[in-house]
Amino acid sequence: MRDELLDPDAVEPAEISDEIGLRPRSLDDFVGQTELKEHLSIILGAARLRGQAADHLLFAGPPGLGKTTLAGIVATEMEVALHVTSGPALERAGDLASILSQLDEGDVLFIDEIHRLSRAVEEVLYPAIEDFQLDIVLGKGPAARSIRMDVPRFTLVGATTRTGLITGPLRDRFGLVARLDYYEPADLVAIVERAAGILGVAVDRDGATEIARRARGTPRIANRLLRRVRDYAEVRGRGEVDKAAAREGLQLFGVDQRGLDKVDRALLSALCERFGGGPVGLSTLAISVSEPTETVEDVYEPFLIREGLLMRTPRGRVATPAGWAHLGLTVPAEATDDAPPPGLFG
Ligand SMILES: Nc1ncnc2c1ncn2[C@@H]1O[C@H](COP(=O)(O)OP(=O)(O)O)[C@@H](O)[C@H]1O
Ligand SMILES: [Mg+2]
Repeated sequence: MRDELLDPDAVEPAEISDEIGLRPRSLDDFVGQTELKEHLSIILGAARLRGQAADHLLFAGPPGLGKTTLAGIVATEMEVALHVTSGPALERAGDLASILSQLDEGDVLFIDEIHRLSRAVEEVLYPAIEDFQLDIVLGKGPAARSIRMDVPRFTLVGATTRTGLITGPLRDRFGLVARLDYYEPADLVAIVERAAGILGVAVDRDGATEIARRARGTPRIANRLLRRVRDYAEVRGRGEVDKAAAREGLQLFGVDQRGLDKVDRALLSALCERFGGGPVGLSTLAISVSEPTETVEDVYEPFLIREGLLMRTPRGRVATPAGWAHLGLTVPAEATDDAPPPGLFG
């Protein structure tokens, strides 16, 4: 089973109420992503000056980096209502038409996972975001006729985990396509300290740094690790999140110094110990840790690759010398070229 502690996509029930409280509400509150914030503040400021709806905005990036938060901030900064839906929720063209008909002038429509919109719904979206027109087909067969309706000028905010999944015509209709990057350690420290303030947890700089270091560059994970360390500190410690509490708490929950969890380590050790460091196929590796192939590919691998512990090669996955070292194993001579380990197929 997936260990949810470090899953940027998983949201536990207790977290939902916390997340609402922890969500920055204004651009000033939003930590990091300096360049993106500057672009946004210019776009939103100009739209406010003109008294118009802001241009359509697309936020792309891995889960937990602040896409939904930014959609809320856009609505707050523009002082308009936020309407929330998602690609998979908009099954039929009529679903989108009904949401569009509820918008007021200037409102923000947030479509999460916009890459999962069906073609039929996308077709309805184009005239709506380009000309603020809605084509509705009434009736079926030869008697069918279509009527055009005006839609108030609104701002579409889309979120997607990968820009590559968005069709070209849709991407071209956004005035700004912004990529969110993983956060720098200093930003994550600021995020942990901010969240601690809101949750009323006493945390010192060393404690926050320790948590930030293991948060995989992801605010959602930083906040979750903070809550686990708070629990640990309350039950086993003095209630304060200092360096020792952070270290011991995170170790107890199976998160190591680099932010690897049990499954990450199982993957690395299968790769090194069972398959001699690779190359080994993705599906074989996934089976050996009992995880779905897509989860390994979308969640674990990108992190292990970013950390320089694993490589994707045309012939399969390979452990890097740093990967061997992280497990405390000596790097075998073969790991330096990518020859298949002797005896694997014999
Ligand atoms: N820049 C940031 N500053 C402070 N907290 C943030 C920031 N970005 C995200 N968070 C926190 O992380 C959580 C997850 O962010 P969210 O917007 O839901 O991510 P996404 O939609 O990209 O998956 C939010 O509830 C918020 O508390
Ligand atoms: Mg989101």
